[in-house]
Amino acid sequence: MTRHFLRDDDLTPAEQAEVLALAAKLKQAPYDEKSLAGPKSVALIFDKQTLRTQASFSAGIAELGGFPMVVDGRLAGIGSRESVADVARVLGRQTSVIVWRTYEQAKLDEMAAYAGVPVINALTDEFHPCQLLADLQTVAEHRGELAGVTVSFLGDGASNMAHSWLLAGTTAGMHVRISAPAGFEPDPAIVARATEIAGETGGSARYLVDPAAAVAGADVLVTDTWVSMGKEGEAEQRTATFAPYSLTVPLAALARPDAIVLHCLPAYRGKEIAADVIDGPQSVVWDEAENRRHAQKALITWLVGSGR
Ligand code: NVA
Repeated sequence: MTRHFLRDDDLTPAEQAEVLALAAKLKQAPYDEKSLAGPKSVALIFDKQTLRTQASFSAGIAELGGFPMVVDGRLAGIGSRESVADVARVLGRQTSVIVWRTYEQAKLDEMAAYAGVPVINALTDEFHPCQLLADLQTVAEHRGELAGVTVSFLGDGASNMAHSWLLAGTTAGMHVRISAPAGFEPDPAIVARATEIAGETGGSARYLVDPAAAVAGADVLVTDTWVSMGKEGEAEQRTATFAPYSLTVPLAALARPDAIVLHCLPAYRGKEIAADVIDGPQSVVWDEAENRRHAQKALITWLVGSGR
């Protein structure tokens, strides 16, 4: 059966642990795994802006012995010039894996239904699961484990990153706290699903309005832009609403003294995160950005292998 990675809970806790273990191994020996030897092609489709995702997938696919086929979503016109289903059937005949960054999750589901090859979510409005694999790899490197670790996410609780933290963090057995202003709470269905997963793994999922309470005693602090791609028209209003959630030095000081700080980037210093925090000693954002490559190589290798 062809497996896909469309949202974080597409991997069971055991499968997520397997992918993360492979990611750690590939970080030590980047050229030892040739799961795309041929070279097999991987389509990388971008309907939104990208830097880390294009760079880390392209480099990683090359390291696996494959060919990264970058597709400009605006040229392809997926869903306008031709249907998602037709694009899926065409690309599925040319490539071994399809990686897509787009807007609605439903379009990704349609791609997966027709492609015949594994489809990977490289960010939608709802989820950013590849980022979470890299984030979990980074937390495991710095904390030594994931189960039982407390993570606090500050910012837009209804964003792709908050939703992915809820699902992926609880899958790893973590205690996930999301802190966001009223009106920007996480989707209740995703909180419910995260709570269900946490019941199996020993983790937990909570939404807290108060950022100080959310950060208190945390092991890991996470934030993200207040204005996700597609929300640019709301930038001014969001900047005012989210101001109390800015990850400043005094707020970060409420966490454990050895807490680490993550940010998926791009970062806006002085807005969601202070320069002293992202450029300070607790920040692990460059490890996090590097780990995109290792985690995605592990994911691709695992997905290609699962279809054999
Ligand atoms: N939440 C952000 C993540 C960027 C990598 C966005 O969707 O723009």
